[in-house]
Formats: sequence, C-alpha cells, structure tokens
Amino acid sequence: LTSEHVRIVEVGPRDGLQNEKKSISMQTKLELIERLAKTGVTTIEAGSFVPPKWVPQMASTAEICEHLLTNPPQTQSTIAYNYLVPNIKGLESLVKILDHTGVSADATGETSKSATTSEVSLFAAATESFSRANTNCSIAESLERIKPIVSLAKAKNIRVRGYVSVALGCPYEGPDVDPVKVAEITATLLEMGADEVSVADTTGMGTAPRTMKLLQALKAAGIATTDLALHFHDTYGQALVNTIVGLEHGIRIFDSSVGGLGGCPYSKGATGNIATEDLVHTIHSLGMHTGINLDEMSKIGAWISEELGRPNGSRVGKATLAR
Ligand code: HMG
Ligand code: MG
Repeated sequence: LTSEHVRIVEVGPRDGLQNEKKSISMQTKLELIERLAKTGVTTIEAGSFVPPKWVPQMASTAEICEHLLTNPPQTQSTIAYNYLVPNIKGLESLVKILDHTGVSADATGETSKSATTSEVSLFAAATESFSRANTNCSIAESLERIKPIVSLAKAKNIRVRGYVSVALGCPYEGPDVDPVKVAEITATLLEMGADEVSVADTTGMGTAPRTMKLLQALKAAGIATTDLALHFHDTYGQALVNTIVGLEHGIRIFDSSVGGLGGCPYSKGATGNIATEDLVHTIHSLGMHTGINLDEMSKIGAWISEELGRPNGSRVGKATLAR
C-alpha cells in the first residue's frame, strides 16, 4: 500500500449540509468550499440541483456554482466541483450556468478560464423502497431517467459520477441488501457511461464482513476497482473499519465530509459521512498519500461545526488541534 495515492471526494458542502434544518448563509457555504479548495483535496461536492421543495438547504446551488465559475478560489491544482442532479432538469440548470458564464466544464478545454472542472453525480438506489423515498420512482424508472442525463453530460464534456445508495443497508428494508443487486446497478451505471460509481452505505449499517461480500460481488460482476469509490456514513462507527476493507480490496477513491457533517433526509437517524480528518489520518498512517493538509482540514472541521452549532464529529480533528 505504501506510497500509493488515495483520492478523497469531499462531500461536506453537499451531503454534509443538505440535512441542516436552519438555513445556512451563502457566505458560510462559499467560505467552506473556498477553504476546502486550499487543503489539497481535488474533488468537492458543492451542491445539488434539486427542487427546493425536496431539499431546501440546496436552493442556493445555482448561485454557488456561478460564483465558483466566475471567481474560482486560487489553488495549486485543478479542483473538480461536483453537483448532484436527480433528473435532466438538474443538469440543464448546470449547463445553463456554464453557457452563461462561458466557462467550459472541462479545464483542459480550450475555452477554460480557470483551473476548475464541473462534474455531476447521479443517483440510484439498491432497494425499491429507498428509490421511491429518495427519487419518487422505481429503480428501473430511475435508471431510465439517468440515460439522457449521461448523454447530455457527455455531449458537454461533463464528467459523471454515479451513486448506488443503501448498498449495505436500507432504512426501510434493513441490513440485508442483496450485493448482487448492488453490483448489477453499478454495472448498469458504468455501461451507461458513468466515469466512476460511488457505492454508498447510506445508513452506516455496513460491517466489515458484509463490506467484503459486497466488494466480492462487485468483482465477480467484472467491475474494475478503478471505476469504484466507497461512500460510508458513520452511524454505527464502522466507516473506518469498512474503509480498511475497501483499501485491502484495491479501492482508492473514498468520499468523506469535513467534521463528519451530514445525514440523509430520506434515511432517518443516519448520521454524517466519515469525517475527512479521520480518513486522512488513517490513510496517511498506512504510508499512503491523499495530498491533503490534515492541520488545515482540522481547522475547517472545527470552524464549520461551531458555525453550525453542532459538536465536531471528527475525533482526529479535535486531537490534531489539541496538540
Ligand atoms: P418529483 O416531485 O417526482 O419531480 O421529484 P417532478 O418532476 O414531478 O417535479 C416536481 C416539481 O419540482 C416541479 O415544479 C418541477 O419543475 C420541479 P412545480 O411544477 O411543482 O412547480 N423540479 C425541479 N426544480 C429544480 N431542480 C430540479 C427539478 N426537478 C423537478 N432538478 C425528484 C423527483 C427526483 C426531482 C425528487 O425526488 C428529488 O429531487 N430527489 C432528490 C432528493 C435528494 O436530493 N436527496 C438527497 C441526495 S441523495 C443522497 O444524499 C445520497 C448520497 O449521499 C449517497 C448515499 O449516502 O446514499 C448521494
Ligand atoms: Mg450520502
């Protein structure tokens, strides 16, 4: 493992904030994203283009996106800003902003004005009940809905991430989600053209043995580890253990949120994602690299927790700052 690179996808500004009841100011959201962009992290989920009726906290995504395109934070490396889109309408909102600002989605494009890229994430679920709750349609319908989104994204040089929710447990159907079903949906998303798929333990019900079984099922379905990311919520405190299982199986992309922010509006009781600080600390302890400055990340975790009036969800963050 030593000296290998692990890419961390910082999902705090989206997954971390979407469930906060109190409206968070634009200034705080932008400050969070701008500070994260300077830590060395290379992918940041900046928001989601969803109906405000469904997720009110994300209503400012268009403004955030426009701001990041026209005033990108000065950073050492290119930052990919990712937006969740539940349907074609969501992607069209992003495309409209890209067209209007004249910034290409792909930094390598000739018209790019800044070192930013814009990406989207699409989401499907591994159980019918969660699909219905989160996207108001069946799994099959959600996959149909995704097809034209991928086509339009590809035509606009927008990189596409897929998510498969409730891969290790469902708030309605319990922990025994069929790993073969997860693998099937993951393979479908990749066949449709997704550039990577993040397999998500939405409820945090995942355990080491079941994470292992899931990774075996993904492998048996012929899915390359380089096409996969893992997204662990830490509800039962198993996220780091499951991360180790993922690392052992060759996964090198993990999602996390600074200060362990978050929860999912359609998964009652689910707490935040694994804290970025904890993930970085563990990966570095294995001799692997993330490119992330842990001290800076820890300061951001403490700041945003205080800003939101919640306890800091990162033990490593607190310990790092107490040193
Ligand atoms: P629906 O109500 O069936 O949609 O919701 P609709 O097409 O019937 O439209 C209803 C209204 O919303 C219409 O407006 C549309 O115009 C509008 P009205 O006519 O009533 O005035 N509308 C939109 N407005 C803005 N942006 C849009 C948009 N689309 C429609 N994109 C829908 C279906 C999929 C839209 C809804 O179910 C939805 O938004 N779901 C997403 C919920 C969500 O954001 N969940 C959290 C993110 S996923 C997550 O956290 C899991 C993850 O972290 C991984 C894991 O941990 O599992 C990724
Ligand atoms: Mg999530």
